[in-house]
Amino acid sequence: MTIPAAFNIGAVRIDPPLVLAPMAGVSHSPFRRLVASFAKPGLFFSEMLSARHLPNDVQKKSLWLQRHEVEYPMAYQIVAPNPEEAVIGARELAGYGAEIVDLNLACPAPNIAGRRKAGGHLLSDLSLIEAILTALRPALACPLTVKIRLGVAPDLAFLKELAGVLEATGVDAITLHPRLTSEKLKGRARWDYIGHLKSMTRLPVIGNGDVTSRADCLAMFGQTGCDGVMIGRAAVRRPWLFAEILGEEREISAEFLWATYQEAWRLIAEFYPEHQALGRIKEFTWYFSQNLQFGHRLAARMQNLPTLAACRDLLDREFLRCCGF
Ligand SMILES: Cc1cc2nc3c(=O)[nH]c(=O)nc-3n(C[C@H](O)[C@H](O)[C@H](O)COP(=O)(O)O)c2cc1C
Repeated sequence: MTIPAAFNIGAVRIDPPLVLAPMAGVSHSPFRRLVASFAKPGLFFSEMLSARHLPNDVQKKSLWLQRHEVEYPMAYQIVAPNPEEAVIGARELAGYGAEIVDLNLACPAPNIAGRRKAGGHLLSDLSLIEAILTALRPALACPLTVKIRLGVAPDLAFLKELAGVLEATGVDAITLHPRLTSEKLKGRARWDYIGHLKSMTRLPVIGNGDVTSRADCLAMFGQTGCDGVMIGRAAVRRPWLFAEILGEEREISAEFLWATYQEAWRLIAEFYPEHQALGRIKEFTWYFSQNLQFGHRLAARMQNLPTLAACRDLLDREFLRCCGF
């Protein structure tokens, strides 16, 4: 099997049908550029953006919004607990030139789903989802998408009802990460629900969850019939994964890992002021160091270091030694 053809979200062509997942603290512009330097996915996502803060973000040309010319097309993802906030955010993004606006109906984090009653929390209130999307649709000329989970239980009747609401309110595509909201990232993603959703709706369906290789990606396409595959964590561990999925073969040597890591560092350190770069480099290192035999020790030692210089000093001494090959 090969990777299926491109598909459309509204007028936006998703070619190849591979999507880099939204990941708060991780899928920022420097990371998206690192991924694109190996192979461009058909669609990028921003980190999750608080809709009510967007007027301020746009005015300040916030680093959460900025992107480079290779980061196209991009879905900007908003999180909002009600129609009013969602529309404020969507209008700002429309004015900012987003190709796609995505509503987060998936985030399980306590500060979003708990305190703010947004993200994955909304899956327990279909009428509120309907109200938010009904308000959002006319506020946007560009495609509107949603990223969902299964909600509180694996329930086909609920999924069907939800798909009906998404179609009726004018949503253009659905990404499904088939875990319950309460599961966070635990257990296995239930890919069969991606197939069920595909059979319930005429909308394009992007499948997501636990894809770590070309074989996994082909299996998700083959088993579920989804239109696109979204990849998150595995693309942080291996930013060249989209290139691999598209058929590029590469030998993973210690030198290659070190060069890729240094490029990530350069991109992050050039884009962010030091206090913001430090956290993002540490976060990236958690994932990337999984390529190294003794990487977890290196990443753990980095976490308490107070400056980029101290981290760099450690890495220059230890990175190649931790590779283990
Ligand atoms: C660090 C991190 C941050 C994430 N942030 C977001 C986010 O902002 N919005 C969102 O919809 N999903 C977010 N996710 C979930 C991912 O988009 C994706 O659904 C999940 O990681 C499963 O895909 P994977 O197995 O390919 O990683 C995040 C995941 C991780 C690991």
